[in-house]
Amino acid sequence: MRLQDKVAIITGAGSGMGRTAAAFFAAEGARIVVADYDAAGAEETVRQVRAAGGRAVVARVDVSNEADARAMTEAAMDSFGRLDCLYNNAGVMPEADHSVTDTDVATWDRVMAVNVRGVFLGCKYAIPRMAEAGTGSIINVSSFVALLGCSVPQDAYTASKGAVLAMTRSLAVQFGPRGVRTNAILPGPIETPLLMDWLVKDEEARRIRLARNPTGRFGKPEEVVNLAIYLASDESRWTNGAAMVVDGGISVNYF
Ligand SMILES: NC(=O)c1ccc[n+]([C@@H]2O[C@H](COP(=O)([O-])OP(=O)(O)OC[C@H]3O[C@@H](n4cnc5c(N)ncnc54)[C@H](O)[C@@H]3O)[C@@H](O)[C@H]2O)c1
Repeated sequence: MRLQDKVAIITGAGSGMGRTAAAFFAAEGARIVVADYDAAGAEETVRQVRAAGGRAVVARVDVSNEADARAMTEAAMDSFGRLDCLYNNAGVMPEADHSVTDTDVATWDRVMAVNVRGVFLGCKYAIPRMAEAGTGSIINVSSFVALLGCSVPQDAYTASKGAVLAMTRSLAVQFGPRGVRTNAILPGPIETPLLMDWLVKDEEARRIRLARNPTGRFGKPEEVVNLAIYLASDESRWTNGAAMVVDGGISVNYF
């Protein structure tokens, strides 16, 4: 198994790609801390992992809260005695996030708190443990919108994912020498509640997104999670600071 004996914290694992990641990582032999502020979602993920024969525990965590972020790393150490991977997957994309000209400050601050401060705090407590052990993998979920302008703007979200990408590169060069690799995944539009809840109400936004994608469809959670398995495993031991796009080709499409 590709993640045998590894321990991974997966944030936002109570839904969407995080839940799929928990199932797939556990099937590859990893033990999982399912970290989410939605306790019911996290518990359901743990139930599914255990039902499939895997090992997982719940950490009810708001990633933007420092005490919670510290407790998340402690949950990995207390439950499983080590920490090999922090998969910073939790993120929000509120409907009230539009262009800078019509987005309110509270929406901006919330997006930055979860999507950027959450990654900062997760890393703040996980990296010292990993550096101490001389090995670890940080997987940061950015987005293809960190690379492209979008005519259906979500400027807080876009700025937050750009920050995650920049932070990834800084961490990669700082902690690579101590055995901790940091990489970013940049997914295109993926069929999860985060995107579908919104597109279901906005047929035009849905049409534009599908028209721009050379594959003519949205991605599936497992198509992103398969890359995360590679990044969490020792197969990627020389991959550090990479920005890995999984978007069906949307970001290379001129017309
Ligand atoms: N779905 C897409 O099209 C897409 C594309 C690119 C990037 N992403 C990114 O992928 C990641 C996962 O998204 P998804 O589509 O699976 O979303 P999702 O909404 O299905 O799941 C996100 C999870 O994060 C949790 N969460 C939100 N705020 C939190 C907080 N403060 N603390 C802890 N947990 C919190 C939610 O409870 C939820 O379980 C996000 O970072 C998102 O920005 C998604």
